[in-house]
Amino acid sequence: MSQASREPEILVAASDTELSSLGAEVVARAIDEAVRDRGVARIALSGGSTPAPTYRALAGYQLPWSQTEWYLVDERAVAPDHERSNFKMIASALDPAIRAGGKLTRMEAERVDREAAARDYEKRIRLSFGVTSAVALDVVVMGIGDDGHTASWFPGRGSTAIDDRLVAAVEASDGLEPRLTVTVPLVMTARLVVVLAKGAAKRGPILRALAPGSNEEVPARVLATASGRVVWVVDEAAAP
Ligand code: 6PG
Repeated sequence: MSQASREPEILVAASDTELSSLGAEVVARAIDEAVRDRGVARIALSGGSTPAPTYRALAGYQLPWSQTEWYLVDERAVAPDHERSNFKMIASALDPAIRAGGKLTRMEAERVDREAAARDYEKRIRLSFGVTSAVALDVVVMGIGDDGHTASWFPGRGSTAIDDRLVAAVEASDGLEPRLTVTVPLVMTARLVVVLAKGAAKRGPILRALAPGSNEEVPARVLATASGRVVWVVDEAAAP
């Protein structure tokens, strides 16, 4: 695993609107640069409640959407039209970009054989890069839970130790549905990781994530060892 290469950047927004516009701007720039440099931008997005306004703001940009590929960071074991489906939220927020040619591939976390669904998703990602190229997403958008989870790496579940796959079937905590999630190796190789967080309840977990310690206790600590840029976009209440 790569060592920490740079300090995280922390952008503090004065309002919800500023948080979404800052988040969207950082992601939009990275998409623009990826398309210019490599002809395609590959982005993985988290679900949860914080990012929808950022995704809507992003979809309002004029970008070469037909050269963008969108993946999910994680998905809950629910049907794609379920109100807790991350795909449903992302597809709706990004609708203008998808209509303009962006390709969004959902995770089929509702399948009975979730291990097979995870393998299929990994294949889809690898196919996009081709057999001879290393997998390196241009942008990964993450969130952080009150318990310090990020993606679907929940504390005490061993998910941050998975290093032999890019996508895995995992268990969540607190009676939440099982999940499919991208794994640490996929996030570690991304060129840019953007973490969106708002509200006072996120301040403690963010402070813990930025401090050294066990990844198993605070999975978001893993982000400190990402090889790409890590940008936290937070509101004043969540600011560490
Ligand atoms: C999910 C997520 C998850 C999320 C955090 C923060 O499916 O639940 O992808 O990792 O990013 O739980 O969620 P909020 O934005 O709702 O606080």
